Amino acid sequence: MNALHSDAFVFFGATGDLAYKKIFPALQAMIRRGDLDIPIIGVARAGWTLDKLREHARDSLEHNGGVDADAFAKLSAQLRYVDGDYQDAATFDRLKQALNGAVRPVHYLAIHPSMFATVVQGLAKAGCAKDARVIVEKPFGRDLTSARELNCVVRSVFPEDSIFRIDHYLGKEEIMNILYFRFANSFLEPIWNRNYVASVQMTLSEDFGIKDRGAFYETTGCLRDVIQNHLFQIVALLAMEPPSHRGYAAVHSQKTEVFQAMRPLKPDDLVRGQYVGYRREPDVAKNSDVETFCALRLFIDSWRWEGVPWYLRSGKFMREKVAEVLVQLKPPPSRLFADSVPATGRANYLRFWLYPNPAIALAARVKREGKEFVGDQRELYLVGERPGQEAEAPYERLLGDAMAGNGALFTREDAVEAAWAVVDPVLKTHHPVHLYKPYSWGPKEADALIAADGCWHNPVPGQVVA
Ligand code: BG6
Repeated sequence: MNALHSDAFVFFGATGDLAYKKIFPALQAMIRRGDLDIPIIGVARAGWTLDKLREHARDSLEHNGGVDADAFAKLSAQLRYVDGDYQDAATFDRLKQALNGAVRPVHYLAIHPSMFATVVQGLAKAGCAKDARVIVEKPFGRDLTSARELNCVVRSVFPEDSIFRIDHYLGKEEIMNILYFRFANSFLEPIWNRNYVASVQMTLSEDFGIKDRGAFYETTGCLRDVIQNHLFQIVALLAMEPPSHRGYAAVHSQKTEVFQAMRPLKPDDLVRGQYVGYRREPDVAKNSDVETFCALRLFIDSWRWEGVPWYLRSGKFMREKVAEVLVQLKPPPSRLFADSVPATGRANYLRFWLYPNPAIALAARVKREGKEFVGDQRELYLVGERPGQEAEAPYERLLGDAMAGNGALFTREDAVEAAWAVVDPVLKTHHPVHLYKPYSWGPKEADALIAADGCWHNPVPGQVVA
């Protein structure tokens, strides 16, 4: 193992939802690949024992991808457990003992954001932070002020290059491909600007509700949960200027500049929705105004993007679970053929199909055989090769990178704050939610938001041509 590689993996929130759904499966997969051979220390305040945590880990794997007998045996052997309250210094003393002399541990805060500062300070006081790394789950803060405060606390203990702010979207192959596709090709650059792009729209919809996360969702809502982070990260990769040199610092700087150029949102830029039935979910207020759907119109006031609207939409309990970006190009300058612009208004566009079946599609009009000059809409598909080996899931990739000290796929302090600055004005000042039916495409008011530039594309898995 490289001397700079972490020599212990500590995860706070070991008995929680994220650990159950994502962390145990990622750890088992990393062990199976031979990439994780260090003590794994779960911390929680659940009154559990190590055996109980092992049982829980098995149960997590049974429900999330399956148990691999060999890898699970190793995971069980590597697993340790520290139980205790995060407010109690003794918890961190026990953690120090469990670390057993590890010199470069990585601490993963898979806990409620309200506890981040307490845990970071507990780590520092007990001497567990020296030469250590920290991985912080999103949402990083809940507005600009709290993000700044949190950054201050974390930075008072860890240097920036030891802080890994996770946004798991950055660990997804199809998102990494946006960066690659944009800058490994030359044909895109001439049209990738306000002269050729009419608008950009993005949909990230889920066909299920908030499940058992009522308490979390009530303090979060869709804008904070997925838009300020996941969707904004995609916008940044699509909108950024070419990095001036190789290396991730240049990418981080260019992405940050996109957030800094985004125009802060106003209430009219936003349509908030709530699915019918949300207020009956456990731990949800009977009169809740928290949005489970959000659509917004965004502008990036830069040389490249001035005047181009970016429409972002996400929601729970929508018609389909899909994710895509549609970059609509301007129509030809004159309509030489009656059908140059099809009924949908979309002739030429680039479509980044992110989920399911990731692909990039380029749409064009092609003449139909015959005397008439009429045509059809076609999509030219670029589909990545899928090697036989199972793809690395985002959490495996990101946890492995953090342990190796590689910050390429994490977010920087200034970028997080700049992204909060965009949404901050509408976190408190906004119009009330509009109700929408479960399994629909959200409230109709979202259609009015985009009307000046066409309509939403409601992606249907398997459907060719938007
Ligand atoms: C999480 C949000 O960050 O991302 C969830 O908290 C959301 O509400 C999830 O469902 C979506 O991630 P993915 O990878 O399933 O698209």
